[in-house]
Amino acid sequence: MAANPEILDEIASAADLGAVEALRVRMLGKQGEITAKLKSLGSMDPETRAAEAPKIHALRESVTAAIAERKSALEAAELDRKLATETIDLSLPAPESIAGTVHPVSQVLDELAEIFADLGFAVAEGPEIETQWYNFSALNMPENHPARAMQDTFYLEPRANESGGESEARVLRTHTSPVQIRTMESAGAPLRLIAPGRVYRSDSDATHTPMFHQVEGLVIDRAIHMGHLKWTLETFLKAFFERDDIVFRMRPSYFPFTEPSAEVDVGWSMEKGRRVVGGSDGWMEVLGSGMVHPKVIANCGLDPDEWQGFAFGCGIDRLAMLKYGMDDLRAFFDGDIRWLKHYGFRALDVPTLSGGVGA
Ligand code: DAH
Repeated sequence: MAANPEILDEIASAADLGAVEALRVRMLGKQGEITAKLKSLGSMDPETRAAEAPKIHALRESVTAAIAERKSALEAAELDRKLATETIDLSLPAPESIAGTVHPVSQVLDELAEIFADLGFAVAEGPEIETQWYNFSALNMPENHPARAMQDTFYLEPRANESGGESEARVLRTHTSPVQIRTMESAGAPLRLIAPGRVYRSDSDATHTPMFHQVEGLVIDRAIHMGHLKWTLETFLKAFFERDDIVFRMRPSYFPFTEPSAEVDVGWSMEKGRRVVGGSDGWMEVLGSGMVHPKVIANCGLDPDEWQGFAFGCGIDRLAMLKYGMDDLRAFFDGDIRWLKHYGFRALDVPTLSGGVGA
């Protein structure tokens, strides 16, 4: 008996897995046609059996192979169909009722990173639980120095150390300035960075929360002077507030880690009953800055005769309040969904310098 091409064609064109299974049962099942042929071998005379057996076995093999092939082809097609029809389009905007928003602090952080990236600044990070060395001493605020009292610090319980004594209490960092030290130590000079992040002070009212956000700026190179600082701040303020009529002034001030030090005020004016940055009806302070103190540079293992630079520090939440018109800082951290819906940003509006940083 020759391999029956018709049955092979029938298998190859079976429409679905159910049809393949029906053919399998018809040919190879207990009552199947091929099974019956195999059974009939027993009643054949030896000569006929010797002639028929190979043909029957060959038929069984080709039918078994054809069934397996059709089955896997149908299964692959089924998977392709699922992949094509069951996709989830992640770029589809969510319905307004369930769409989340980007918190103004995250938005402003992205804007800062975008603006400073354009000026060649990298983003650096550091831990929120700091040693007193990084938070104070390395920044030229030695123990008992009155400058430590300028910041209301959260101290952690001292931990027992191996020799049975207590290690020095660590602190929740009171500012992002320790990231200056850590990055100068690890990356050396020259450097251009911003270090945004959470900071903590024991303070609470409408414009102060125990946790808030700062951004630190640091440039270390060979011939950096205050002119570079002034230009950088001016460029930053104009790009951030997206206004050309920004006026600002640098007021002599004191920080232990900079010398000379300057506080920076921007001019404001009234627009629609609201105080906005731009114009010159009055001044408000936005950041602290100065030339990095030579002792700080030396504390990081760099030679202050070779390297110098400028630094600045600025409250991110305050920048957000000034730019987007919120007046109570506490609402930033209440997690009130109505506030977030009102002040939040759409997730797909990524700040770019060309498209407008304030989406
Ligand atoms: N660390 C200061 C603070 O939290 C802010 C500051 C002032 C940072 C001057 C600086 C700087 O880098 O140069 O009050």
